Amino acid sequence: MDAVLNRSSLESPLPTDLVAEANHRIANSLTLLVSMVRMQSVSVKKKPEPLSNADVRMMLDGIAARINTISQLHRILSRSGADGVVNLKPHLEEVSSALVAALSSPEQQVRVVHTGTDCMVLMRHVQPIVLILCEAFINAMKYAHPASVPLIMTVDCSVAGDGRLVLAVSDDGVGLPEGFDAEKSGGLGFRVMRSLAAEIGGELQMQSTHLGLTFRVALPAGAMAGAKPS
Ligand SMILES: Nc1ncnc2c1ncn2[C@@H]1O[C@H](COP(=O)(O)OP(=O)(O)OP(=O)(O)O)[C@@H](O)[C@H]1O
Ligand SMILES: [Mg+2]
Repeated sequence: MDAVLNRSSLESPLPTDLVAEANHRIANSLTLLVSMVRMQSVSVKKKPEPLSNADVRMMLDGIAARINTISQLHRILSRSGADGVVNLKPHLEEVSSALVAALSSPEQQVRVVHTGTDCMVLMRHVQPIVLILCEAFINAMKYAHPASVPLIMTVDCSVAGDGRLVLAVSDDGVGLPEGFDAEKSGGLGFRVMRSLAAEIGGELQMQSTHLGLTFRVALPAGAMAGAKPS
């Protein structure tokens, strides 16, 4: 019975509005990628010194990681649909694995530890959340361990006492440079992270110590559809 159902659903064409919706989403994602690359091109233009080979490699790796994250996200959407509520945790794990594959190298190894609960979120919040995760990973690869010590990232999803869902992404590196004003300074990454958090009504906080940098995104309680312990 299942086989017949599966076969017939595979054979029947997708409704035109679903195809249009999928194309619309893909077009939006590609536009987002293009604007990120353009912003990067503007910031390269403003740099007083030419980039080194290592800088160029890191920039290209970052672009590849962002493209990979978006493609991963469309894979998730193709399985889950664009509406409704999903458990964020497996998606964070899947996207983190893809980021490790895209960004790690023999010189800079990465291990990711996932902690927390099964957090239920609206499907439309998944894209901004995984893109914030992507920016935090790219930054950690670039700055956390200047001496290329293996990097440990921790991704935690939990529900705070006030009912807000909190995603925390931490590295075990050196933290922000001394005197760095995260509110005023920063490049493309921080700007993108802030605007993605704002897009979903979330609040982005950074906590930097000599033991590493943590990004926390707290989603308003109303934006969460419920959570159950893992
Ligand atoms: N994980 C981290 N550990 C230590 N310092 C960091 C970390 N993430 C960011 N920083 C510091 O914060 C600065 C701003 O980061 P941001 O992502 O906004 O810009 P960028 O990475 O320099 O450039 P871009 O994101 O445009 O490629 C970085 O230049 C770096 O000095
Ligand atoms: Mg960055």
